[in-house]
Amino acid sequence: MNLEVNGIVHEVFVEDRTSLADALREECGLTGTRLGCEHGVCGACTVLINNRPERSCLVLATQTEGDAIGTIEGLAKSPTVLAPIQRAFREAHGLQCGFCTSGMLLTAQSLLEHDPDPSPETIRDWMHGNLCRCTGFDQIVESVQLAASMIKQDQEREE
Ligand code: FES
Ligand code: FES
Repeated sequence: MNLEVNGIVHEVFVEDRTSLADALREECGLTGTRLGCEHGVCGACTVLINNRPERSCLVLATQTEGDAIGTIEGLAKSPTVLAPIQRAFREAHGLQCGFCTSGMLLTAQSLLEHDPDPSPETIRDWMHGNLCRCTGFDQIVESVQLAASMIKQDQEREE
């Protein structure tokens, strides 16, 4: 089957039971998608499917033929320029070991596209399905708020 990931079509060979996470990691070589619990609890495996955050451990690869999949590898516009959400997590200490971070970033990115100026309560609510065992969630909330202000500044500069 074909998987469209970050705008590139990959021909992959999967079984009916292969999860999207496994297909991305093993067939496409995109190992930025993390596998933690593998049963839908931790959110580490979050990717975007047609711009919606989804748990790739719970989705079969074969269910996504024809969909546009976004992974952490496609978040930055170029290999040398981080996306605002990545810069913000780095500056506001929204990560430590980084295991949860790809899922966190993609979930946060989709929030900011939906709501460019989210309150702390909205951020906590939107991100509640992404678990981090080392950072503490305050820094993650601050990172998302910082990203929102960075995006706004970038837009004002472009106007
Ligand atoms: S690995 Fe998919 S939700 Fe934990
Ligand atoms: S940064 Fe380590 S699990 Fe979140």
